Amino acid sequence: MAKLDVAVTINDLEIIENVGKACLPIYYRPQDLLMMMMDGKHLIYKLTSNDQIVGFVVASLEDDGERIHIKSLGVLPEFRRQGYGRQLVDKLKELLGHQTNGKYITLYVLEDNFTAVKFYARLGFKSVKKMENYYLSLGKSAYFLKFEVKSTD
Ligand SMILES: CC(C)(COP(=O)(O)OP(=O)(O)OC[C@H]1O[C@@H](n2cnc3c(N)ncnc32)[C@H](O)[C@@H]1OP(=O)(O)O)[C@@H](O)C(=O)NCCC(=O)NCCS
Repeated sequence: MAKLDVAVTINDLEIIENVGKACLPIYYRPQDLLMMMMDGKHLIYKLTSNDQIVGFVVASLEDDGERIHIKSLGVLPEFRRQGYGRQLVDKLKELLGHQTNGKYITLYVLEDNFTAVKFYARLGFKSVKKMENYYLSLGKSAYFLKFEVKSTD
């Protein structure tokens, strides 16, 4: 079982870039990740299995911490369908209402990324709207997805 390791270090950034490259058409470079690590407005978590990074999530804190926005999330192909992606999103859900006093998690997903669309639907995300040509460089549209914490009042 892979474990969620919150403490991303500078030494991890190149590996996270490579995992991103193996997962997505658009991924972050180490220098982008470094800026995000240092600006106090981002969360970067890694998943490790036998000391190998097999998954990651990069998210930003928006609207004074009310919303966590997933900017990138990936699990290496050979480690998929074992609950690791869910583990990464669960970590963000856990933070809502604790560290961030937040209510929502949002993200954009490529219209033809059917695996991710199913994955997020399974995790309780709803499609809010279609953003035509959101990914201009790819010439593709995206869905804006949102997960809302249920009020316990
Ligand atoms: C999307 C992604 C992160 C899912 O990671 P994962 O570790 O395989 O997901 P999990 O094992 O936690 O799956 C959780 C649930 O999502 C759904 N799901 C995941 N992959 C699925 C697939 N290929 N087809 C249908 N449903 C799927 C299932 O309901 C699954 O529950 P189950 O295994 O009990 O049926 C992974 O496929 C990935 O890295 N894809 C490439 C990068 C990407 O698209 N990232 C998202 C956009 S930012």
